[in-house]
Amino acid sequence: MFYPIVRPALFKLDPERAHELTFQQLRLISGTPLEGLIRQNLPARPVTCMGLTFKNALGLAAGLDKNAECVNAFGAMGFGFIEVGTVTPRPQPGNDKPRMFRLVEAEGIINRMGFNNLGVDHLVENVKKARFNGILGINIGKNKDTPVEQGKEDYLTCMEKVYAHAGYIAVNISSPNTPGLRTLQYGEALDDLLAAIKLKQKELEKRHLKYVPVAVKIAPDLAEEELIQIADSLVRHQIDGVIATNTTLDRSLVSGIKHSEEAGGLSGRPVQARSTEVIRRLSAELQGRLPIIGVGGIDSLVAAREKMAAGASLVQIYSGFIYKGPSLIKDIVTHL
Ligand SMILES: Cc1cc2nc3c(=O)[nH]c(=O)nc-3n(C[C@H](O)[C@H](O)[C@H](O)COP(=O)(O)O)c2cc1C
Repeated sequence: MFYPIVRPALFKLDPERAHELTFQQLRLISGTPLEGLIRQNLPARPVTCMGLTFKNALGLAAGLDKNAECVNAFGAMGFGFIEVGTVTPRPQPGNDKPRMFRLVEAEGIINRMGFNNLGVDHLVENVKKARFNGILGINIGKNKDTPVEQGKEDYLTCMEKVYAHAGYIAVNISSPNTPGLRTLQYGEALDDLLAAIKLKQKELEKRHLKYVPVAVKIAPDLAEEELIQIADSLVRHQIDGVIATNTTLDRSLVSGIKHSEEAGGLSGRPVQARSTEVIRRLSAELQGRLPIIGVGGIDSLVAAREKMAAGASLVQIYSGFIYKGPSLIKDIVTHL
């Protein structure tokens, strides 16, 4: 692969510009003979999770392909599953730029994108056109201007629209960049949301004659007591899986590093240990009653294995993929 050659040029650009340019190129070569440049034919390593068979245990984490624009290209690189989104009912621009920063010395990223996306209808049209032979997860959220007390309605609207097209649905209640969103992780607000989601899932299962599992994505910034309560709530509401974790607000591991003071969620190496700890704690609490999808700072085969050893059944990457490129997929999938 040629990522080691391309990366220095991309890293000279503003991170969001580099992202846009890469997406442009990926869209251009997708479906043409040039797709061979990014294709990696990896050995099959099937894993069953949430009642689905994944061709391998490595997925692309949410937020990289928010509008499902490059599913075929990421599929060609060898991911076993791809989680698109977070998508909201209506299109929204997200926060002002700049809103994404590389912390190169720490191999981290801080972002405060704020769910910039083209809306759920647009995403569904893209998904319909995609040809990916792995599992496609669709990650859903709420619009910024929907009051958090009515946030539930946004999740249900998205569920209605994506259900027929999703391998699984990820409910994102852990982004730090939508004011109030993380309050949905606690107490009655969580119970109320999960009850409504479960009811909607049952209704949609009958309508579409297919069961689409629902996983909930949580933050790394939860106290032990809060984690236990979330685990209990997920089990009680028969949620199918939990994705741990999203980005962190904690800056203790990056103090003094350029951009560390930027507002937003921190990902990559600096969240690796904390995310593994959350998985370990969740796993002890859940005792296999629902599977864990591990994400946070995976940047090598060993880091992926640590997540599995802590209790994850599947793993996902985002920041590690930005720093290491497609060869990271090959390293992990070949040996996991
Ligand atoms: C720029 C950026 C945007 C992200 N957007 C989303 C998002 O829209 N929805 C979501 O659930 N997670 C989002 N994430 C979080 C990632 O999916 C992942 O949970 C987190 O970055 C930790 O994994 P990593 O260390 O491998 O990046 C985003 C992460 C980054 C770096």
